[in-house]
Amino acid sequence: MTEKISSPVSKHGIEGRHIVLGLSGGIACYKAAELCRALIKAGATVQVVMTPAAAQFITPVTMQALSGRTIFMSQWDDRTAAGVDNNMAHINLSREADAILVAPASADFMAKLLHGRADELLSLMCLARPIEQVPLILAPAMNREMWIHPATQRNVAQLAADGAHVLGVGAGFQACGEVGDGRMLEPEELLRALDSFFHPKLLAGRRVVVTAGPTFEAIDPVRGLTNRSSGKMGFAIAQAAQMAGAEVTLIAGPVGLPTPDGVTRVDVESAHDMLGAVQLAVPQADVFVACAAVADWTAAHPATQKMKKDGTGAPPALAFKETVDILATVAQSDRAQSGALYCVGFAAESHDLLANAQAKRAKKGVPLLVGNIGPDTFGRDHNALLLVTADGTQALPEAPKQALAHALVAHIANAISVL
Ligand code: C5P
Repeated sequence: MTEKISSPVSKHGIEGRHIVLGLSGGIACYKAAELCRALIKAGATVQVVMTPAAAQFITPVTMQALSGRTIFMSQWDDRTAAGVDNNMAHINLSREADAILVAPASADFMAKLLHGRADELLSLMCLARPIEQVPLILAPAMNREMWIHPATQRNVAQLAADGAHVLGVGAGFQACGEVGDGRMLEPEELLRALDSFFHPKLLAGRRVVVTAGPTFEAIDPVRGLTNRSSGKMGFAIAQAAQMAGAEVTLIAGPVGLPTPDGVTRVDVESAHDMLGAVQLAVPQADVFVACAAVADWTAAHPATQKMKKDGTGAPPALAFKETVDILATVAQSDRAQSGALYCVGFAAESHDLLANAQAKRAKKGVPLLVGNIGPDTFGRDHNALLLVTADGTQALPEAPKQALAHALVAHIANAISVL
């Protein structure tokens, strides 16, 4: 039976969340301004709470202008907080938060939290938060010696044991002039970490292998045969699977995209190399998503030196041979056939999407085939997908590739949970 369901892409992540952004004292406060803007741009509302020490580094005026809300700095502030007039900002502000993100979290502030001390509004609010409902996320920032000090490392471990989510730190040049670990993560990284935090861990404990991008089949040392593919969809799927808690290996053809956070990337060039990398990775995997635009042909005899025009105007006599179909090969393996490895294929079509995608699903022997109209999506940030399974089809209407990737991952997680 083929049933067409047009489902909206489900919303997870930062969009629509209310974040209390806490700033404790540290030079990384300058990054909190950018972070605040990025959170709002991503669709969150932000209430800033600052310690007096943070106000030495950045003004409340700046944070108010960026967040569009007045700033709270004192436990004695008697203004209405979160619409409540009881002079208990530490209670009211935390009760309406989806998460409290302290960025920067200084060494001193973390030491205070560890002991449950509460002598200014931010630490008081962290202590007073309903621990089960309001997650506390800390983005440490300090000098490298302070970071590696046993006291700080002890505090970080204990805070994590007490239920806080302590993010990592960056390495590099520090404001104090020293070089090492302890920099606060960049606003972009913090945004992604928070976004990931809000995604349900539907693939926790699962291993996922994704192929992405084109392959490049050399004809000679400077020329080759390739496909139009930016790799954006495959990279978004790898990131979404990682955010859903999976251990992800991304096997990428030649693309200029940054590696998704927390994903193991293997760069390959040719279809032959991609096949080798996939065969190494899939024996341990639960899911294989073949999103790469693999070249169908490769040069039968690639020249070792650059081919020259011979002056006659005649083109070179090129011979090609078919590449191995990576997806079909994996789909025929015992693990795929037994259901231990769930295989997902893609079809980039120019027309008759449903019929072509159904035919390709049968031809490749996969449980899920994802169709899209190639020329509508090549290189773009948006796409629309048609999910074709044995039970029918599901259309994911046009949306950013990241949103579609999360929806696809949710579909895969659901499919493997019922296997
Ligand atoms: O046959 P076609 O190339 O249209 O199939 C597309 C699907 O097959 C994609 O999932 C692609 O990643 C995969 N494929 C592959 N190896 C090939 C050719 C395609 O894995 N040599």
